Amino acid sequence: MRILLTGGTGYIGSHTAIALIDAGHEVTLFDNFSNSKPAVLDRLREITGVTMDFYEADVTDAAALDRVLNERAFDGAIHFAAPKAVGESIARPLHYYKNGVAGTVALLQAMERHDVRNVVYSSSATVYGMSDDLPLQEDAPTEVINPYGRTKLMCEEILADLHQSDPRWNVIALRYFNPVGAHPSGLIGEDPQGVPANLMPFLAQVAVGRRPSLHIFGDDYPTPDGTGVRDYIHVLDLAEGHVAAVEHLQQSPGFDVINLGTGNGVSVLELVAAFEQVAGVPIPTEVVGRRPGDGPASWADASKAARILGWTATRDLDEMVADVWRWQSHNPDGYPD
Ligand code: UD1
Repeated sequence: MRILLTGGTGYIGSHTAIALIDAGHEVTLFDNFSNSKPAVLDRLREITGVTMDFYEADVTDAAALDRVLNERAFDGAIHFAAPKAVGESIARPLHYYKNGVAGTVALLQAMERHDVRNVVYSSSATVYGMSDDLPLQEDAPTEVINPYGRTKLMCEEILADLHQSDPRWNVIALRYFNPVGAHPSGLIGEDPQGVPANLMPFLAQVAVGRRPSLHIFGDDYPTPDGTGVRDYIHVLDLAEGHVAAVEHLQQSPGFDVINLGTGNGVSVLELVAAFEQVAGVPIPTEVVGRRPGDGPASWADASKAARILGWTATRDLDEMVADVWRWQSHNPDGYPD
């Protein structure tokens, strides 16, 4: 298959490009570098031996989408391209609705014009809101409390409407839990711009000395050690989940929403301890107040992915941490400009 990856040079897109190539597929990456760097392309060539087919363009740009869809024959698309920071989405909602929602509509319209109707969508467990009905199953009620979460839920609904209107559209929306980790080569990984909003990249930057200490957002949650519990999943497991999803769409068309998680909950303190042990460096921490909008615990029921896609996560927490540490210690300042 040839698959279009919007957001293909981003953190999850780049790891998925490798997983698709490893599975024998061809990829075309489409990205505007709004949250990634061109150096990713060199690193991908080093890892795979393949020079990436790449278009530098914006997913809201209909003419650019038409160009790539004219120039290549695609079997489907995986739509990663979208901004993803909760705080920023509250400050800049229009930026989120334009790039997250209008960008998705622009991509789907272009795909329709070119008769490509298989799409895997990058959704998030954020659509479950603060639900404490654990493990989270796909049919749990959705609840979104910020513009970022709304972009994810709106796009799932747009895709459902599209499939309803024309069953030639085949869709899998993947609800990611907490992607972490990096390729074991240490050549690619997560490289957030500015202060990392998420725990693992922040922790990695503390470990490497870029930041003095980790703020733990609350230790008074109703969890075993009082800190927030999440379902961290290795980005390569996540990437392989996308391969399984695009392959599944070819054989079993339809519409589905599927969790990608491990099914295990890990607390902030457990993650810090794992990092200190694997990296062999102390992580200074300071407990501060809860972050608004955070819930106590979230982990997946991952059985639907196993049943429908034949996929389960295989990499454990130590491997996630070891791979993050290799990436961060080899690239303390992230990708070169
Ligand atoms: C966050 C977003 C979620 C988004 C996901 C991926 C919020 C409320 N949720 O998920 O919508 O899909 O990122 O971008 O922003 N923590 C600390 N110190 C830190 C950072 C985090 O203690 O410096 C804690 C949090 O309170 C939480 C856990 O670590 O308990 C994980 O946080 P994070 O990595 O930001 O992920 P989520 O909040 O689960």
